[in-house]
Formats: sequence, C-alpha cells, structure tokens
Amino acid sequence: MSDLVELIDLKRYFGGGGNRFTGVQPVLRAVDGVSLTIRRGETLGLVGESGCGKSTLARTLIRLYRPTGGRILFDGQDITTLPDRDMQAVRRRMQMIFQDPYASLNGRMSVADLVAEPLEIAGIGTRASRRDTVAGLLERVGLGPEHAGRYPHEFSGGQRQRIGIARAIALDPDLVICDEPISALDVSIQAQVVNMLEDLQAERGLTYLFITHDLSMVRHISTRIGVMYLGRIVELAANAQLYERPRHPYTRALLASIPVADPGARRPATPMRGEIPSPLNIPSGCRFRGRCPLATDLCAAQEPALQDAGDGHLVACHYPDATDPQQGETT
Ligand SMILES: Nc1ncnc2c1ncn2[C@@H]1O[C@H](COP(=O)(O)OP(=O)(O)OP(=O)(O)O)[C@@H](O)[C@H]1O
Ligand SMILES: [Mg+2]
Repeated sequence: MSDLVELIDLKRYFGGGGNRFTGVQPVLRAVDGVSLTIRRGETLGLVGESGCGKSTLARTLIRLYRPTGGRILFDGQDITTLPDRDMQAVRRRMQMIFQDPYASLNGRMSVADLVAEPLEIAGIGTRASRRDTVAGLLERVGLGPEHAGRYPHEFSGGQRQRIGIARAIALDPDLVICDEPISALDVSIQAQVVNMLEDLQAERGLTYLFITHDLSMVRHISTRIGVMYLGRIVELAANAQLYERPRHPYTRALLASIPVADPGARRPATPMRGEIPSPLNIPSGCRFRGRCPLATDLCAAQEPALQDAGDGHLVACHYPDATDPQQGETT
C-alpha cells in the first residue's frame, strides 16, 4: 500500500501576533511536530483528549490553516505552500465530514442544492446531469427523491450526517477526513453511519482519517491508530497491536478509561491522572511526564522521539515497555 498522505514535522501555532498596544500574544502550539503517513485505502484512526490538536491537524493537512512549519505531501506532491489557485484541484480530492452537520450545512439551501454545490463549484456536468448525479448520491446514502427538495432543519441528526456524507463523496475524493462524525448522534444511529462509511470506502477506494475520542468505536473501523497528546503523536500502530500491546503510558491510561462492558474484566492500567496541560505552556522534555507514573529525570531532560519499537509500532517514550508501578493495585 502506498502512502496517500505524508506529514513531516507538521506544526500549526496560533497567536504570537500582537502590536504595541496589546504586546506580543502568547503562542499556542496546537500541532507541534507531527510526522505520520496515511496509506492509500486505509482508515487511520486519530484519538486523544479534547484540545490535543486533532481538528487542527486535520484542518492544516487540507490547508484550511496555513502550516507554521513542516511539510505536507499529498499523493507525492508537496502541497505545504502550494498557491490557492493550484490547491483547488487538490482540495477536490480531500473532503471533510464534521461532527455537527447542521453547522456545516447552509440551512437555506435544499438538500439537492447542497449536494449539487460541490459539483457546481468544480464545474462538473450540466445542470441536468448534476441532477442525476445528486439523485444517485442521495439514494446511495439512504435518502429518497422525496427528500431532495427539503431543508436541513427538516431532518434528524443521522439524516443530516447522510447529507454531509453525500456532499463529501460527490467529487469522488481520495481522502475523507471524518472529524467526530458520529459523536453527536444517537447510539442507535451511530452504527448505521459507520457501516455506511465502511461500505463507501470499499466501493470507492476511499482513504479515511477518522478522528474521535471514542476508543471503542475507532477500534472497529481503523486499520491503524495514532494517539495524539498535546500536539504530537505519542504512539501509532496497527489496530490490534495498539489495543493488545499499548506501549505508551498515555495510551494505556486512555484504554483504561474506556467503560468496560464486563465489570469483572481486568483493566489494562491505572486510569489517567491530572489534567492535560495547556498548549500555551507545554512542559519541557516529555510533554506527558507530569501525568506519567513512569517519569524520571531523563523524561524531564529529553523529549522522546517517535521511534519504531518493532513491526512498525511507533512509540515516543523513554520506557516503552515498562509496566506502570501502580498496575494491579486496587484503588
Ligand atoms: N482557530 C484557533 N485559534 C486559536 N486557538 C485555536 C484555534 N483552533 C484551535 N485552537 C486551540 O488549539 C488547541 C487544539 O484544538 P483542537 O480543536 O485542534 O483540538 P481537538 O483535539 O480537535 O479537540 P476536541 O476533541 O475537543 O475537538 C486547543 O487548545 C484550542 O483551543
Ligand atoms: Mg476537534
């Protein structure tokens, strides 16, 4: 499988501006040196606590935000500083599905117009051919011709997400970034939407970056999973490896915080302690050390690099295979 996306030390900071009246604003390092690849046809899951930079990473990848540093390769092309005019053709090939389709859909446009819009902007087809394409797309996402003339507010959350998906696949993209696509939906609807995304992936050869903080859901849909902490990837591995042998203490703590269906089940490690620090004030050395049961002087002195611990299992920890001292203790 070749790589569709390669990020090299990608950074996106906010703030840092200011003038003589405000003084210099503090710099918020939302994405702070992310290197990863997304392989063609895979689903790369991206997990991590709220505020760790997942959405900013996604938006920087598709150049909604200008990168502060690093590089973005898409299908072998360096798009880091590609001018907007040249980005248009690339952007068609990368689409996004959002958590809240209501916020991303123009409420004054009918469903048919919403789904036709990307085709129209790209100048694809005639008015009549677009109408056929839209009808096909609506049918594909489980909506009928009777829905075409209606408006977003007339639909349920799940149906609105289907409209968002129809829009996202209208231009036959290569990459679809799903940013918490199901977290706002009823549990009963979540599986339907996930199944549809999986079917569409198989039919159309889509590549997904699937962002979520639902660790039990991402396990089912992902090929590999990246774990993000304070603007960086701290662990990235094939799905089974990550769940069966998490090597970073942060991943172990995240997994430990998943509610277990079987109350008798053994928890993998001690749950998370403390709060995620502010990206305005990232600790020196290992950024996880303040919450880590394993932290030593080395962790304070030196930030661990993301390295292959074998079988392509990447981990950024000085003690990747140490067990947590508290493990097994009853709390
Ligand atoms: N446009 C912006 N301007 C300034 N700061 C921002 C902006 N967007 C995000 N941030 C900050 O960057 C950090 C990362 O935010 P981001 O939305 O990427 O996190 P996230 O992992 O997607 O969180 P969530 O799981 O809650 O969606 C946060 O501290 C956030 O406040
Ligand atoms: Mg987000």
